[in-house]
Amino acid sequence: MKSTLLAGFPGIHLAVIMDGNGRWARQRGWARLRGHRQGSESVRKVVRSAPEMGVGVLTLYAFSSDNWGRPQREVQGLMTLLERYLREELGRCLDNGVRVNVVGRRDRLGAELMEAIGAAEAKTADCRRLHLRLAVDYSSREQLTRAARLFSLRVGGGQRHFSSCLNRVMHSDPEAPPVDLLIRTSGEQRLSDFLLWECAYAELFFSDTLWPDFGTAELKRAMGEFRSRRRRFGLVCPSTSPQGGQRAS
Ligand code: FPP
Repeated sequence: MKSTLLAGFPGIHLAVIMDGNGRWARQRGWARLRGHRQGSESVRKVVRSAPEMGVGVLTLYAFSSDNWGRPQREVQGLMTLLERYLREELGRCLDNGVRVNVVGRRDRLGAELMEAIGAAEAKTADCRRLHLRLAVDYSSREQLTRAARLFSLRVGGGQRHFSSCLNRVMHSDPEAPPVDLLIRTSGEQRLSDFLLWECAYAELFFSDTLWPDFGTAELKRAMGEFRSRRRRFGLVCPSTSPQGGQRAS
């Protein structure tokens, strides 16, 4: 199987839509922010376990551009959680070879969050075990529109150049390869404007687990299911396997 192999980041590209924080809190009669806070703990667990499970690039949908429309208190709370995560996890990321990168628009983020992003990205720039991309103020349609503008400046560019434009406009450093596996939690089954181009041949895994309850065991289950899938990339059965396709690995 041709899994994603990037210089320094061997392994698959896993993308996760972390859904269900609000419902998790509501089930307990708590404010939504408590769900997001518990969701940050799941982020910590997944980042810790991902490299051992063969993940080289991990993209987490932390805040969509549409999320600006949520109540101000919730938006502010999410921004604070992100900043805290970046500051508190820095040491652990360095110890574990995690290169931190925030992808999305940057012109609407607050100064303190931007400062935390700058510090995390600069200090982890030499880490080579996992490329952790946190998608913040991210919209795939916005990304595609901006990339199209950039792409149009060069005559004759192909798909590879367009992919590169997509990475550049959303500050992906280094550039990330296509998504191999996309997980969405909480039982919802949609893409919600996340990595629409990059997921062209992604395997999809929908989990009923709410994100704050998601951890190593559920990640293992998703990876096991992914490995059992046959990826065909639009081709017909190679002679090596009765069902055809490449075993995901
Ligand atoms: C969707 O659940 C989740 C979000 C909009 C935010 C995700 C944020 C975190 C997991 C915590 C902060 C992130 C990091 C990287 C530290 P929802 O609120 O839409 O849930 P609901 O559908 O049950 O209401």
